[in-house]
Amino acid sequence: MRSVTEMKNLLGIIGSPRKMGNCELMVKEIAAAVPGSPKLRMVRLVEKDIRPCKACYRCLVGDCPHQDDFSGVLRAIIEADAVIVAAPAYLRGTHSCIQRFLDRGLQAYRHVDALYGKPAVAVATAGVEDGEGSALLGVEFFIRQLGLSLKGRAVVRATFPGDAIVLAEGRSAAHRLAAALVSPGDYTPEGVSCPECKGTYFEFRGMTAIYCLSCGGVGSFSVDGGKVDLMIAPPAHSWRKKEDMASHGKWLIGQREEFLRQRERRKDAVKPYLGGEFI
Ligand SMILES: Cc1cc2nc3c(=O)[nH]c(=O)nc-3n(C[C@H](O)[C@H](O)[C@H](O)COP(=O)(O)O)c2cc1C
Repeated sequence: MRSVTEMKNLLGIIGSPRKMGNCELMVKEIAAAVPGSPKLRMVRLVEKDIRPCKACYRCLVGDCPHQDDFSGVLRAIIEADAVIVAAPAYLRGTHSCIQRFLDRGLQAYRHVDALYGKPAVAVATAGVEDGEGSALLGVEFFIRQLGLSLKGRAVVRATFPGDAIVLAEGRSAAHRLAAALVSPGDYTPEGVSCPECKGTYFEFRGMTAIYCLSCGGVGSFSVDGGKVDLMIAPPAHSWRKKEDMASHGKWLIGQREEFLRQRERRKDAVKPYLGGEFI
């Protein structure tokens, strides 16, 4: 676990195209409230050249074929003591620059030691009451899938640019998240959460089964006297512990090798589907 005294460098990842927009203001407000006045560096993801993942899996064993800004941003995350990630809700999802960066995230498996457990907080800004949809979940995925430790999160209602800090709700969320960033304990959300990963996003499968979107655990739930109980088994592929993340990386390398062994046979199987009209 990283201690407060180590927190000298913060990285703010801004997932909005808007300069001095609500995400940027939240990042600055949170950073300013972190004890010890750490230095804040920021990155506006939309301004970076982050090309789409080619799905070649080469990054698991060597260098990514893309020569773009991804590795510079990943390096900045590795060098920071803690990370603040803020993105707006767009059409009920997270701004695409967050997922576009995360799509390249198999490269994180080569940096598990440097990334795992690094404190991070998640912010989604949303202009409409209850309009955030899966925006915060997308930011949480960014943090969890890179192996960072989610220490706190907030949806901040912010309709006009500036609302995030003009309205008291945003300012108090920023102060809460700044304190969470330096707190030694694990983050536990209020209310019902996954016993495996503390995630709070679920899919009901039929009348009794439940699936945790955050960790992929499947289980059952019961409601008794207004109390909701979740029983969720650890997923086959977990990211929760450092050794889980490292072993998933190794499993992926094994899958790549297996695919390479089968490649010629598979080419024959898909040959009848070659061609077609594309726009
Ligand atoms: C293209 C677009 C789509 C949006 N979609 C949503 C939405 O689905 N739900 C919502 O609550 N707000 C939506 N908003 C509003 C933004 O999430 C909100 O204004 C946010 O505070 C913007 O943060 P920023 O200033 O950092 O860009 C949308 C804004 C834009 C420009």
